[in-house]
Amino acid sequence: MIPKISTLGGYLHEYQKSVANPIGFWSNIAETFHWRKKWDEVLNWDFNKAEIEWFKGGKLNITENIFERNLFLRYEQIALIWEPNDPNEKAKTYTYNQLFTEVKKFANVLKNHDVKKGDRVAIYMPMIPELTIAMLACARIGAIHSIVFAGFSANALSERIIDAEAKILITADGGFRGSKSFDLKSIADEALERCPSIKSNIVVKRTGKDILWHKEIDFWWHDEMEKVDDIALAITMDAEDPLFILYTSGSTGKPKGVVHTIGGYMVYAAYTFRNVFQYSDGDIFFCAADIGWITGHSYIVYGPLLEGATTLMFEGIPTFPNAGRYWKIIEKYQVNQFYTSPTAIRSLIAMGQNWVENLNLKSLKVLGTVGEPINEEAWHWYHDHVGNNKCPIVDTWWQTETGGIMISPLAGIIPTKPAFATLPLPGIQPMILDNEGKKLNANSVEGNLCIKYPWPGIARTHWHDHERFKESYFSQFPGYYFTGDGVKRDEDGYYRILGRMDDVINVSGHRLGTAEIENAINEHPLVSESAVVGYSHPIKGQGIYAYVVCTEIPKKDEGMELKNSLRIGVSKMISAIAKPDIIQFTTGLPKTRSGKIMRRILRKIAENSEDYGDITTLTNPEIVKELIERHKKLLEDTL
Ligand code: WT7
Repeated sequence: MIPKISTLGGYLHEYQKSVANPIGFWSNIAETFHWRKKWDEVLNWDFNKAEIEWFKGGKLNITENIFERNLFLRYEQIALIWEPNDPNEKAKTYTYNQLFTEVKKFANVLKNHDVKKGDRVAIYMPMIPELTIAMLACARIGAIHSIVFAGFSANALSERIIDAEAKILITADGGFRGSKSFDLKSIADEALERCPSIKSNIVVKRTGKDILWHKEIDFWWHDEMEKVDDIALAITMDAEDPLFILYTSGSTGKPKGVVHTIGGYMVYAAYTFRNVFQYSDGDIFFCAADIGWITGHSYIVYGPLLEGATTLMFEGIPTFPNAGRYWKIIEKYQVNQFYTSPTAIRSLIAMGQNWVENLNLKSLKVLGTVGEPINEEAWHWYHDHVGNNKCPIVDTWWQTETGGIMISPLAGIIPTKPAFATLPLPGIQPMILDNEGKKLNANSVEGNLCIKYPWPGIARTHWHDHERFKESYFSQFPGYYFTGDGVKRDEDGYYRILGRMDDVINVSGHRLGTAEIENAINEHPLVSESAVVGYSHPIKGQGIYAYVVCTEIPKKDEGMELKNSLRIGVSKMISAIAKPDIIQFTTGLPKTRSGKIMRRILRKIAENSEDYGDITTLTNPEIVKELIERHKKLLEDTL
């Protein structure tokens, strides 16, 4: 198991060691795992070429590190607790041995469907135990999983399947979310019309609703599981073989397939899990994210299970059957560490305090947040009302591409400050650069957050598109990994994340590219052009504001209809998460002489700011006045 840092002095010591000798530092941590063959070289890297390799030549299987390595001590310990959406449905638990059996069986199902090492498996599932089982079964046989969040549309699913050339899909008939159920199979069917690479579609029965069945490719999970035994040896993998692809939005174009490889990701997910949350044997860990995002990959599944933890997976939403659901779950299972998003906290604050009061939350030791900046009010509410003033809050900053937490307090060890992610974890060397690429070494500075040295969890490439990978993170500030985030370092050297500097927006902790939303809007025949920006939203962190250029501005009723149809279009092309909150019709957008949209101005208008900066370089400065007037009118209309 990974040694835990337990004092501030210990942190400082480890941090210094990790910078002075990163190779020695990370190889010591990697030694705690089981390697079938030890690596030849700890690290090989060149940020100018975007090339990074950790533990090269090392041979291992990550599931062997989850199961065989843990079984001796934890055969009968609960690995996974599954809490269903409906509190009246029976919860499920799996011991390490039971989970292992399911994983091996499903690995054999995959083999029966001709899935081989290196093949891609797309997974489009609700938050049910089979999701965890499916991912680990892929890892067992060396297949690469690519999980697509169940809120994505058929179009978004098919794009990801096509890009990854997935051989099989694993889905469910549907799922439950609060008082509603939703279909997945019908959406998957629609997606699969465009996905010739898919040879089998394995379907878990969850809702039991009627679905269409295509005999040639559809197979029930439960039927397939009956045909197999539970003997499945782990395939030997190279440390640098891909473990999974996870698509995420960038500032331009379509979502990109971020690739994580086995050895480095394993070491980093486990190290950060153990140290940030200060997990002790026997604790119950509850991360309320969805496994469709990186947070679920690293802190529901891989990090906790590698470290022999008991991890809790929740199918539902925080407000069903009422706004006390999270707290009820914490009370029911005596949860020790709880990890959620600022949006969830803000939406629960809005529902009032009584849901959290009168419950026994004494088991809680650590509270975590992730995904977006947390405002001070939400931080204090979480700290005072959920943590009863005694639980440290770990505000964890990281990204899909970083594989694990990068800047965060270690719970109870690094003193916290509301809204600050505080200090880098050992092994992480943040740098702040100004827009010209000059290093800002002092404290009390603000600029672009870059990382100057590799860590084991860093993504290795974009699936089939290494150029874009290089371009996205290593081109703006040569020699550094650029995160896309703005950051401030205060007088104590503490980091506060300010948010994205690029055209990525963060809505309720979900990352969306404005370009993707614009592309969806532009599909409409009445739209000639559009520009999407984020603006501050009291609950969601950021809301979506779309400026839509129409040759003829629609009249009131037609306008309502068009807005509705644009929102439906965006839901269909991407996901309901990406629907614009505010749509402004306009006759034009502010453009520079080179034809680029000046988004800065659009952001200012959306934020009700009057400081537009210099607009004289625009080809059409007069448009700014029109946009402001239309914006004011929109606000009046909604009052
Ligand atoms: C972006 C990455 C990492 C898991 C969930 C999101 C923002 C993330 C924080 C935080 C302020 C944060 C950043 C980052 N972000 N955590 N604690 N404070 N901002 O992963 O979808 O890849 O998004 O989320 O802007 O770049 P993701």
